[in-house]
Amino acid sequence: MKKITLLSATLLALLAGLSSCFEKIEFAGELSTPVLPEKVLDYDGIGASLPDHLKSEFARARGNVFQLPSNFPNGNNNGGNVFFPNDPVSIDFNGNVINAPKNPRITDDGATLGRVLFYDTRLSINNSISCASCHHQSAAFADPAQFSKGFGGKVTPRNSMAIVNSALNSNLFWDSRAKSVSHLALQPVQNHIEMGMESMEVLVKKLAATSFYPGLFAKAYKTQDIKAEKIAEALAQFVCSIASKDSKFDQGMSSKFANFNALEKMGMEIFNGDKAKCGSCHSGANFAAADDPMMGGEYSAPEVAGTAVIGLELQAKDKGKDNGSFRIPSLRNIALTGPYMHDGRFKTLDEVIEHYNSGIQNHPQLDKKLRSGNGGPLRMNLNALEKKALIAFLHTLSDEKMTVDERFSNPFLD
Ligand code: HEC
Ligand code: HEC
Repeated sequence: MKKITLLSATLLALLAGLSSCFEKIEFAGELSTPVLPEKVLDYDGIGASLPDHLKSEFARARGNVFQLPSNFPNGNNNGGNVFFPNDPVSIDFNGNVINAPKNPRITDDGATLGRVLFYDTRLSINNSISCASCHHQSAAFADPAQFSKGFGGKVTPRNSMAIVNSALNSNLFWDSRAKSVSHLALQPVQNHIEMGMESMEVLVKKLAATSFYPGLFAKAYKTQDIKAEKIAEALAQFVCSIASKDSKFDQGMSSKFANFNALEKMGMEIFNGDKAKCGSCHSGANFAAADDPMMGGEYSAPEVAGTAVIGLELQAKDKGKDNGSFRIPSLRNIALTGPYMHDGRFKTLDEVIEHYNSGIQNHPQLDKKLRSGNGGPLRMNLNALEKKALIAFLHTLSDEKMTVDERFSNPFLD
């Protein structure tokens, strides 16, 4: 019972958007139908194709999304978390124990249904917006626009995030307000979706009236019955399946980076070194925050782990999680996902590097890693070659295959 409530909440938040206007609901049975291959595409097999350095991250993820070898080091194939073996119990920012839902186990038919839902504009009230309107595969599921257009011309207040290895995140959204993809909705996702779909009943009816959804639900869930929580679950399966795992960096891991040129190697050293310290926040095989706040550990104090203030301005306009602290995002595919930062303020990686190099502002909560010995904001004083090298290294984190992978592509041809 509880589970259903959670999932429904997830779904509502995923889909409800916050638009208050009611428009005429168009059932639009004449909208296009997806074109799917006869043999279902392989999503579960993505787990087996992960390189070892990512398998171990997925083995620690909140929920066993892929089948991994049960003896995998650190593996916890019960779908838990090695730090909290009996997870799902987790604790929120205020110290309250909450039940953070695990991510769903991916099935080929479930993720296929999720793929169709992700690309279907029927999920918005006037059939104009799909998840993919703001999360573009060609941009590693980010939006090349600074802010995205939602239903009725509304614009998101933050830059659309890339979707990449989301199953590894226990701190989703710029303000770190969700603990798992399945948790997206336990906290308000105001201004996230803007799809204007206020009533799940309406959506369920809309999907049931199509020629293809009942069949897709039957394949995924063994019954044609379309339910709100199944829509949410299938979407979560698809989102969790979007894995970035085949970048030049990933390929280099097994050959001591024999595939890197001198500039990229130099950039990797700067990234991980004391002068720039990038790797102390964008850490691990996913180049992201360590984990959710309660993981604490060596990264930072519990109240900021997973998020940080990087001194974009003296006084934060958008408070993020707290007074201007934002989620430490993954840098995988970063060369594909501009513009950058929660408000898309930087168009290029050069501008990002120049911020860290010379532009850090003395915000009261500026992360101590970005302060110099005397307490003021760090000035990295990188020379032109060092900056170039850092950018060359960041480019090695792109997995271009992901951006053309049929499994993640739009099944609606028109
Ligand atoms: C109108 C644009 C828009 C639409 C439509 C949209 N998103 Fe988003 N998405 C965003 C923005 C903006 C953010 C960051 C919001 C924030 O941090 O407050 C985001 C964040 C996310 C994240 C968090 C990623 C992370 O790493 O933390 C996920 C997952 C996501 N969206 C999935 C979806 C799904 C699934 C749908 C469709 C049901 C969808 N989005 C529809 C704009 C959109
Ligand atoms: C103290 C932790 C910390 C350090 C050190 C750090 N970052 Fe970040 N980084 C963040 C946070 C937090 C954000 C998101 C800030 C925001 O949007 O307001 C971010 C954002 C970024 C982004 C934009 C991501 C996106 O999706 O828009 C890039 C690129 C980036 N950092 C690269 C680097 C590089 C390169 C270095 C080293 C020169 C570095 N970072 C050092 C915490 C850190």
